[in-house]
Amino acid sequence: MIEYAERYGTPLYVYRLEKVREAAAALRRALPEPCRLYYSLKANPHPRIVEELAAVGVQAEISSSGELQAALAAGQAAADILYTGPGKTLRDMRMAIRAGVRRFSVESMAERSRLADAAADEAKDVDYLVRINAPGAAAGGTGLRMTGVPSQFGIDFDQACVPPELFRAAGRLRPLGMHFFPATNVADPAALAREFELSVETAAAVRAKTGFVPSLIDLGGGFAAPFARPGDLPDYSGLRQVLETALDRCFPEWRHGRPAIAFESGRHLTAQCGTLLTTVLDVKRSGGRTYVILDAGTHVLGGMSGLGRIMAPAAVPCTDAGRGDGMGEGACSEPAENATTLVGPLCTPLDVLNRSASLGRPEAGDLLRIPNTGAYGLTASLLAFLSHPPATEVIVDGADEVHVRRLEVTATQLKGVEE
Ligand SMILES: Cc1ncc(COP(=O)(O)O)c(C=O)c1O
Repeated sequence: MIEYAERYGTPLYVYRLEKVREAAAALRRALPEPCRLYYSLKANPHPRIVEELAAVGVQAEISSSGELQAALAAGQAAADILYTGPGKTLRDMRMAIRAGVRRFSVESMAERSRLADAAADEAKDVDYLVRINAPGAAAGGTGLRMTGVPSQFGIDFDQACVPPELFRAAGRLRPLGMHFFPATNVADPAALAREFELSVETAAAVRAKTGFVPSLIDLGGGFAAPFARPGDLPDYSGLRQVLETALDRCFPEWRHGRPAIAFESGRHLTAQCGTLLTTVLDVKRSGGRTYVILDAGTHVLGGMSGLGRIMAPAAVPCTDAGRGDGMGEGACSEPAENATTLVGPLCTPLDVLNRSASLGRPEAGDLLRIPNTGAYGLTASLLAFLSHPPATEVIVDGADEVHVRRLEVTATQLKGVEE
């Protein structure tokens, strides 16, 4: 690791492709067979990572025109891409259809109409899944709820069962199936299994109430991963049995692809591949506390912490050349008065990565590493705030360095605005 920091400076993300392959293989083993697995690019849209997942048969789940470009740049076949997310514009959908995307998840009746317009405008047949906000989700053990509560995601179960046209072909639109994504980051395998069972049962209930027979059920995900702290991926190996039993009960033909079953995962596939290297710029005492100022702030990592979502990242001294993973060294074991506040270089008191880190006695110039930062790292951060250059990203595969890049925030002068 140190060699990369010496070569490219910090802040620096190092992504290890073998970790991506390992996570994909383990997740596949935990899922019912046959099934399709989508990679959610929002976790990390780096084309080399998307390409690696495509090579092992994991297709792209995208939610923007930028993710569409990243998926295509990574060599994903447009026809295999699933386009999800609330608030898709007519322009987004037309652009995707023009690029060859034929599969969308719709989150409301209005969005379904927009998709129909986009399909008509582009004169292409398009398939859609209806995203359903199902009631009765399991309590406890969940990270962040997406549905099962009032939310902007999907169509409430009761409403989905009412309008007959929701599941009816119209013009260039063909209803393909149903989409669920009740929660993210569900670390308790039993709680996640229950979420999936409930989604399977809801799909069967929608079929019974509407008469619509789905060809594809996307059960979503919720597969967890540690974020910016030491730790391993949860063991979901028990899921397969639970899911196969639920599917056999509600959709006895599923093993023959009637319906096909799909899952989505972002963080679980990529979190462990990433390590953020950062340099201590300054160490100060103020009001009895130690402040360690890093060159990686919320413009590099944890940009969503303002939403109260991100746990305290743990940095560990980077003392070797990448041997061992140092896991466990970052846990805070010091008394609160000795604890360190890890901050970034941004000129705002909100640029805090961790209020109670345990780091020993760091000095200016020390190199630290923050593990498990391959998902929701750089592109989930406040990239343009304070206008620092974005962190560099290196992709390595075993001992080989295979790709290095730096994202740029650029301005484009639009025609017609200039007088
Ligand atoms: C529809 C959908 N799919 C996939 C994901 C990816 O979630 P995760 O990275 O937790 O797997 C999300 C996250 O918000 C989502 O909303």
